[in-house]
Amino acid sequence: MRMVDLIAKKRDGQLLENSEIEAFVRNYTAERIPDYQASAFAMAIYFQGMNEQESATLTKAMAASGDQLDLSRIDGTKVDKHSTGGVGDKTTFILSPIVAAAGVPVAKLSGRGLGHTGGTIDKLESFPNFRTELDQDAFIELVNKHKMAIAGQSGNLTPADKKLYALRDVTATVNAMPLIASSIMSKKIAAGSDAIVLDVKVGSGAFMNDLPAAKELAQTMVNIGNELDRRTVAVISDMDQPLGSMVGNALEVKEVIDVLRGGGPDDIRRLSVRLAAHMLVLGGKAENVEAGEALANTLIQDGRALNVFRKFIANQGSDPSLVDHPERIAQAEHTVMVNTSEPGYVTGIEATKIGQAASMLGAGRMTKEDTIDHAVGVELKAKVGDRVEKGDPLVVLHANQDETTEVEALINESYSIGAQKPDERPLIFTEMV
Ligand code: URA
Repeated sequence: MRMVDLIAKKRDGQLLENSEIEAFVRNYTAERIPDYQASAFAMAIYFQGMNEQESATLTKAMAASGDQLDLSRIDGTKVDKHSTGGVGDKTTFILSPIVAAAGVPVAKLSGRGLGHTGGTIDKLESFPNFRTELDQDAFIELVNKHKMAIAGQSGNLTPADKKLYALRDVTATVNAMPLIASSIMSKKIAAGSDAIVLDVKVGSGAFMNDLPAAKELAQTMVNIGNELDRRTVAVISDMDQPLGSMVGNALEVKEVIDVLRGGGPDDIRRLSVRLAAHMLVLGGKAENVEAGEALANTLIQDGRALNVFRKFIANQGSDPSLVDHPERIAQAEHTVMVNTSEPGYVTGIEATKIGQAASMLGAGRMTKEDTIDHAVGVELKAKVGDRVEKGDPLVVLHANQDETTEVEALINESYSIGAQKPDERPLIFTEMV
């Protein structure tokens, strides 16, 4: 196969053979195809799309391009969850101990974050000495014994996707649906679970801004998962404002503890319970999603989920008593109130700007080399639909710096206040099961 012929074939809207897609992934990973040809190929896919079979083949080939986790030594159905990303999203830490408490093994690989706030691993490192570098045997043993472990991703997971994603980023081909879907799903497939729950975010703070696009992405990923024998379901959830009240690593961890203790904000609790319910169904512990929700709520109320979380923190090297004394987890030196200058209803909160504000305080990284300040971040005191009077707090900044004028300005920009109470947006738009 000559790469130029493959590019022409896709450019002209023809279907690619499995062997052609596999050869592209193999040769591109091995640097036998130059970036200019891979760019043209990605652009042809951008315009012509890929059918279900092509997308599944691309996903499988990218998953096989590097290390693949073999979780067969873990008993039971391994169910993973993936979120397409959003501000204040800490559902992983809530739903994992819930489903683990029900006996569904959680063997999760996660990464660090770039941008807004830290990633899963960064948030966990708010617990001092928390270890995420686990070798495969230790990881599997922890999951078999305690049903839950989270480890950092190996450097060689889906190298084909790493290379292609970096190329798409600079060739205006990120937003090609089959390429996004196969990029996300290849990492999930390589991570070895039997079933996958996808949380596809929609709204101003999400990768997909509108519902039709989010639905298309969700459906494409569900089709790929099912085609590759991983039972996959998708929930499309709102990311038009941050999720929960806390944005920033230790702040988010404290909110997780609140929810696992039976409190916490309604949105983050409801979404976590719903996602957990789908995982419980896929893991064979609930007949249907309603029964899954009831079980998830029971596991929170009777403290079993919190017990699993405490044990998980201890197993991976940190101090479990912090779960009962979250005030001892990293605290910033200052708190700064940002108050509203006008009365009315909160009609919008731009999640991306709240994320940027947290990042400016030090909660996120601008470059891979930056270090994170776990203690800092943004605490939202008013969410969309809330009534505020002049001088009421919109947010509290948790800062380790004296100068926060620019951050305060960004917060003011991110909030819209209006005279009319806005219509309520659903937290979950639709589900694909
Ligand atoms: N996230 C991914 O992992 N890949 C994409 O292509 C887009 C978002």
